[in-house]
Amino acid sequence: MIKKCLFPAAGYGTRFLPATKAMPKEMLPVVNKPLIQYGVEEALEAGLNGIAIVTGRGKRALEDHFDISYELENQIRNTDKEKYLVGIRKLLDECTFSYTRQIEMKGLGHAILSGRSLIGDEPFAVVLADDLCVNPEGDGVLEQMVKLYKQFRCSIVAIQEVDPQETSKYGVIAGEMIRDDIYRVHSMVEKPKPEDAPSNLAIIGRYILTPDIFDLIEQTEPGKGGEIQITDALMKQAKDGCVLAYKFKGQRFDCGSAEGYIDATNYCFENFYKKGQL
Ligand code: UTP
Repeated sequence: MIKKCLFPAAGYGTRFLPATKAMPKEMLPVVNKPLIQYGVEEALEAGLNGIAIVTGRGKRALEDHFDISYELENQIRNTDKEKYLVGIRKLLDECTFSYTRQIEMKGLGHAILSGRSLIGDEPFAVVLADDLCVNPEGDGVLEQMVKLYKQFRCSIVAIQEVDPQETSKYGVIAGEMIRDDIYRVHSMVEKPKPEDAPSNLAIIGRYILTPDIFDLIEQTEPGKGGEIQITDALMKQAKDGCVLAYKFKGQRFDCGSAEGYIDATNYCFENFYKKGQL
C-alpha cells in the first residue's frame, strides 16, 4: 500500500518575497506551526510515514526543523514550554525523513522526477505544502484519497470548483463524472485563460501517483512557462489508462498567496490555537 509522501519544496516562492528570500516558503508559520509541518501531519494521519522532501538551495531550515535541537531541548526541559515540542517530537518518532535536491527549478513535474530515487517503484502521495488543507468533519484530504486509491488503484488528483475567472492559476480538468465527487479525467490544461478552460474544476496540491508517472515525466517536454508540468505527464497517463479527479471534503487555503495565507492564519487561530490544538 501507499507508504511514502513526496513534498516538492524547491520552488522560489516569488509571490511571497521578500519573506522567502532567505527562508523557505514551506517554513512560513500559520500561527505557530510551519506550513510543511501541517502537511507532514496530514500525511502521517493518512498512514504515510515515509516523508521524502525535494529541497533546493537556501532550504536547509527544512532539514533542521525535522531534527532534534539539543540546545533547545536542554533549555526547555521540565518547563511549561515543553508542550510546544510535543507535536514535532511525534513526527520525529513516527516518520522517516529523506531528502534530495532539485538542482535547477524546472517546474513541479521536474521536482517530482527529482524525488524518484527516494520513492522507488511504488505508488506514492504528493503534497504541496503551500496548499493547507483541513477537514474538521472527518478524514484529512490525503486520507480520503488513500482510501479512494485502495478502491481504484490509479493516479488521483484532488480538485475543487474555483471562480471561472481564476482558472489561469491552476491546472484544470475535463472529465466524465463517475460518482458525484469523482471524475474520470479526459483532458487537463495547465493555467488556461477563462475562455480556454474546459471547466472550473481546478487541481490543488494533493496527488496520488502510480510510479509509471516517472517515465512519463521523463518523456515530457517543457510546457507552459518553460517548465516541466506534472499535468502534461498526467494527461499521457489519462490517455493510456486512468486518472481520477476527486472533489475532496474539507477546505483548502492557498498559502502561496497573501490572501490565502491570512485566511489560513485566521482559520487556524480560531479553530485550533484557541482550542489548545496547536
Ligand atoms: P508554485 O509555483 O506554487 O511555487 O509551485 P513557487 O514556484 O515556489 O512559488 P511562486 O509561484 O514563485 O510564488 C508549486 C509547488 O512546487 C514546488 C514548489 O516548492 C511548490 O511547493 N516546485 C515548483 C518545486 O519544488 N520545484 C520547481 O521547480 C517548481
